Amino acid sequence: MTSEQRFRVGLLGHGTVGSAFADLLPRRADQITALTGMRPELTGVLTTSRGTFAEVVENADLVVELIGGLEPAREYALAAMRAGKHVVTANKQLLSHHGEALWAAARENGVQLRFEAAVAGVVPVIRVLQETLAGAHVERVTGIVNGTTNFILTQMAQTGATYAAALAEAQQLGYAESDPTDDVTGRDAAAKMAILARLAFDTPVHIDQVAYEGIERITPEDLQYADDLGLGLKLIGTAERVGEGIAVAVHPAFLYDGHPLASVNGPFNAVTIESPDITEITLSGPGAGGPETASAVLGDLVSAMIPPASTPEPAATLPVFADVESSFYLHLEVADRPGVLAQVAQLLGLQGASVRSVVQKGLGDNARLVMVVHPLLESRFYAAVELISGLDFVRSKPRAIRVIEEEYQ
Ligand SMILES: NC(=O)c1ccc[n+]([C@@H]2O[C@H](COP(=O)([O-])OP(=O)(O)OC[C@H]3O[C@@H](n4cnc5c(N)ncnc54)[C@H](OP(=O)(O)O)[C@@H]3O)[C@@H](O)[C@H]2O)c1
Repeated sequence: MTSEQRFRVGLLGHGTVGSAFADLLPRRADQITALTGMRPELTGVLTTSRGTFAEVVENADLVVELIGGLEPAREYALAAMRAGKHVVTANKQLLSHHGEALWAAARENGVQLRFEAAVAGVVPVIRVLQETLAGAHVERVTGIVNGTTNFILTQMAQTGATYAAALAEAQQLGYAESDPTDDVTGRDAAAKMAILARLAFDTPVHIDQVAYEGIERITPEDLQYADDLGLGLKLIGTAERVGEGIAVAVHPAFLYDGHPLASVNGPFNAVTIESPDITEITLSGPGAGGPETASAVLGDLVSAMIPPASTPEPAATLPVFADVESSFYLHLEVADRPGVLAQVAQLLGLQGASVRSVVQKGLGDNARLVMVVHPLLESRFYAAVELISGLDFVRSKPRAIRVIEEEYQ
């Protein structure tokens, strides 16, 4: 007989991640017991056809929520914490909608709410923001936090595939769900950026405050022209301080080669955190997958078994701005006539935009004018685009995509 205590784990959800977690826990139990002096043991499982919530919670010291979605996940997480149980979740939708109520419940009930797997899978960005950088002044967090869209964009760039063909391949390889809407519209990434912004800036951020745009409109042509300009395209989430507030958004964006996120390809995720205290750090790794995500969940379980980490009350409520400065890529289909570039540049100039680089291709009515403009307020850029789209030599709706200018050394 050993004197070690049992640590009882209740599992809500036994799907892709839940079943991987149930498989991993007994295989790591000895190692965790050696580390914590307590033996973790699965004492209950709830699915749509198995177990009851009341029994699972009653027989647990910690509840792992891997059901997903808002309800009943919210109700179960709150009820578990009110019953004095720690909660570990991988649910970004839940935290980006109801994070404040859940973190308050954790503080009020003296339990831990851990959620490393909710953002960027196994990449330990939550831990770094909550612990490693707890005393740092973070200026900006930039991330590729959706593996499905990064896989699709990488395929389009490397093989010239259309968006539809690259999406079909992602679905075939299991990188995209049969309904990929949340991923390709940017909504999944928006939920994750809301959580990162909350931790980076100590202010409440709801998913509804995050502007997001997906990758459905991206064409192989955009990627080809971008290549000519030395740019690569990613779906980028940005959370940054702007004046006295913050801005949080998800957009397709071009990056120059030197950017730390430029080389992150395929289904991988990566997050860059910038602060004057640390310059910048970039963490990258698999953003999803049953075993990978289960490993992050297990890390949270071990942390909850050792000493407490909590998400304190917000330090302040900062305004969240929607109109911020960015550099842009602008793609115009134009009739090839003298003075076209000058007129476009003039309309941009009226809004304070100056052209950084230009590529011109094609002849006659099929000419393409592709340019990158230096940073200006988004509202002013789109005001210029509106005027440009009214010029008689512009043949179709102009296409605009953000460019991240920093190259980092
Ligand atoms: N999959 C990934 O790679 C990944 C990566 C990072 C984070 N996550 C997050 O992890 C969570 C779980 O994702 P998943 O992919 O494992 O989901 P999943 O495969 O769809 O599994 C969901 C599980 O929850 C159960 N469930 C659904 N509704 C329920 C209800 N009302 N009451 C009780 N049980 C219910 C299902 O029961 P049945 O078995 O009876 O259907 C199933 O076992 C989500 O929050 C997701 O965003 C997933």
